[in-house]
Amino acid sequence: MPRLAYVNGRFIPHASAFVHIEDRGYQFADAVYEVVAVQDGAFVDLPGHLERLRYSLGELRIRPPLGLPALTLIMHDLVRRNRIRDGSLYLQITRGVAPRDFKFPTATKSAIVMTTRRRPTAPVRPPADGVAVVTVPELRWARRDIKSTSLLAQVLAKQQAAEAGAFEAWMVDPDGFVTEGASSNAWIVDRNGVLVTRQADRSILKGVTGNAIAGLAAGRGLEIERRKFSVAEALNAREAFLTSATTFCVPVTRIDLQPVGDGRPGPVATALGRHYLDYAGRQEPPFGWAP
Ligand code: PDD
Repeated sequence: MPRLAYVNGRFIPHASAFVHIEDRGYQFADAVYEVVAVQDGAFVDLPGHLERLRYSLGELRIRPPLGLPALTLIMHDLVRRNRIRDGSLYLQITRGVAPRDFKFPTATKSAIVMTTRRRPTAPVRPPADGVAVVTVPELRWARRDIKSTSLLAQVLAKQQAAEAGAFEAWMVDPDGFVTEGASSNAWIVDRNGVLVTRQADRSILKGVTGNAIAGLAAGRGLEIERRKFSVAEALNAREAFLTSATTFCVPVTRIDLQPVGDGRPGPVATALGRHYLDYAGRQEPPFGWAP
């Protein structure tokens, strides 16, 4: 059975799944997306991802191609058909196909694509010695709360990180404060043991994983402050970590080659990673389907 993609109403073998050359996602990045983790055959934090998808579409005035219940059914179906037990689903909705013209086309139907990816071990387990990040200047537009496919700044940031042997890039605004990672949210545990992450305004993407982790942390009596932090504060912090649907919770042990804390994964990040993994494994599988 070949791996399938979902393209505008049809399940198609992944290798022969194509979209039109005048799709506005291709020409203008006039599109939004979501990445949802699959753990033990069930979506992780699905309501949060659907809510953010609804928000992103609304902010860009892209009409959803399907209602959320139908969309959810198709997502489950693709995961089932591709027999994904641990991995992720990628979903992209563009404003559709129209002759190239910047302003919104009239009477164009939005276009949708979904693919899945299998992960041999889920999630990507934090390496025992944590990960390194490099800092890069924030080059993105001012609406980072919208999960748009306009990701060129992140492509460059990730490439810079990879070339420096780092796992992630932390983007830094002109005032010296970390916004977030190229594809993750950035956190520190400050000198007082308080979890600090940037407030979710238009300057960052409101992470679904980070939100769930904040809930788990609060449930364990940890204090959380949503505010900006600088690179210097991160380097002085007890711990640092990052969160996303593809990595879950990963300790950050080095920033620009300098150690965070004692340079080893901190106890809070390590514990939260474990709690989130338990939480992810306890999500409802679709329709009683057992992987
Ligand atoms: N990225 N910030 C940015 C810029 C992101 O791209 C992501 C996720 C996050 C974390 O959000 P969440 O916890 O909801 O995954 C924060 C996905 C994984 C990606 O682009 O592949």
